[in-house]
Amino acid sequence: MSRVLETPRKRDSLPYGGYYRHDDESVPKSERELTHAGPGSPMGEYMRRFWQPVCLSQELTDVPKAIRILHEDLVVFRDRSGRIGLLHLHCSHRGTSLEFGIVQQRGIRCCYHGWLYDVDGTVLEMPCEPSDTRLKQTVCQGAYPAFERDGIVFAYMGPPEAKPVFPEYDAYRMPAGTRLVPFSNLYACNWLQVYENLIDHFHSAVLHNNMTVDSIDAELAAGLNLGEGFREMPVIEWHATRNGNGLIFSAARRVADDRIWIRITEQNFPNFVATASLVPSAARLRHTTVAMSRWQVPVDDENMIVLGWRHFNDEIDPDHMGCAEDCGVDRIDFLDGQTRHRTYDEKQRAPGDYEAMTSQRPVALHHLEHPGKSDVGVYTCRQLLRDAVRGKASSNGHAPAGESLPVYTSDSVLRLPRREGPEDRELLVQTARRVVEIMRECDELPSAERNEHALKRLDELDGGL
Ligand code: FES
Ligand SMILES: [Fe+2]
Repeated sequence: MSRVLETPRKRDSLPYGGYYRHDDESVPKSERELTHAGPGSPMGEYMRRFWQPVCLSQELTDVPKAIRILHEDLVVFRDRSGRIGLLHLHCSHRGTSLEFGIVQQRGIRCCYHGWLYDVDGTVLEMPCEPSDTRLKQTVCQGAYPAFERDGIVFAYMGPPEAKPVFPEYDAYRMPAGTRLVPFSNLYACNWLQVYENLIDHFHSAVLHNNMTVDSIDAELAAGLNLGEGFREMPVIEWHATRNGNGLIFSAARRVADDRIWIRITEQNFPNFVATASLVPSAARLRHTTVAMSRWQVPVDDENMIVLGWRHFNDEIDPDHMGCAEDCGVDRIDFLDGQTRHRTYDEKQRAPGDYEAMTSQRPVALHHLEHPGKSDVGVYTCRQLLRDAVRGKASSNGHAPAGESLPVYTSDSVLRLPRREGPEDRELLVQTARRVVEIMRECDELPSAERNEHALKRLDELDGGL
């Protein structure tokens, strides 16, 4: 008796064929190239060439904090003179964890024999050693450069000689009055699942449409809606950006007989995403940009942390501004379904992104997937990432020094009357392409001119193609 059918195709398409499905549930090497981010691994080395957020400023208190990032055990602290230290967790002397260290005016002191480390890992004192010891010159604790920016601690964990500038985006300061509010969220799954979720936009029309809910209280259901516009099945196109170091998609939807909504979402490799309005309203939006900037950071293979900022200002989600106090450590101000803090019953009755992503298995198995046309974005993302990891992208993806980078991410609502039959879909496609073109034009302009140019060109588009 054999459980093997003659072809995998037959095996996969056989009704009541569970008996014949014996999938290999181990992660193949080809998938580890993208999913595994430990030291020395292809993705791990690639990610270490970029600044990565590692925790929120509010987590730094008078005691040090142990963290795990990119499979490395580290300790992070702010010394009493205000400098940020990010050191390997285990003391170079005999391995005691520096999470039990004592934060000093300058650096951190190991609790066991008192070795005092500066933020760059230099040993300043060895109280148990003779005063003429040469050990201080020959030992350095592993350390990484780190700094704080708007409530997030960023670190560079790559080779010191390859340290890039921290990328500044226009959206961090525009529109005027923008406030960046930091948050983090933990996910019990591989980092790539969360990164891919953001380019997998079709799910919005299903997962966030209450289709999966039939016995749930109204308040909980309302908390899972992303806004009326998201209920429409979008027309989506994906485009590589930034010399192959990023990917955007445009999602076009007709939201009224006279209105089309074009939403652009941007991913910049290795793990940054900027998303537009979280509570879009077709009636109110004209042209707005980023509502959330976030990095998907591997903790280890089966855990990841999102760290980022919600952008609050008068233009993007103004009714939502009061929610800044709901953002923080492992907390975000929208969508219960984003976080792990719900009961199993709630998760089953109203599953959200958290459940969809983490239940793909701890590390999703790409070789067992059956992708369709709607997965072009996810598969394009993987291919571009693979090329970038292998050094095949036409540039290294780092921002030029001193320049603020444009963002493609935006919501634009244009008045374009409905057309008959399939022509309306074509109108959506063409309008989205024009909006992408406009954002690409902005890419070529100095920062101060970009927004004005986008608004002017969108006005030309408004009312008719
Ligand atoms: S183990 Fe840290 S000083 Fe001895
Ligand atoms: Fe989602």
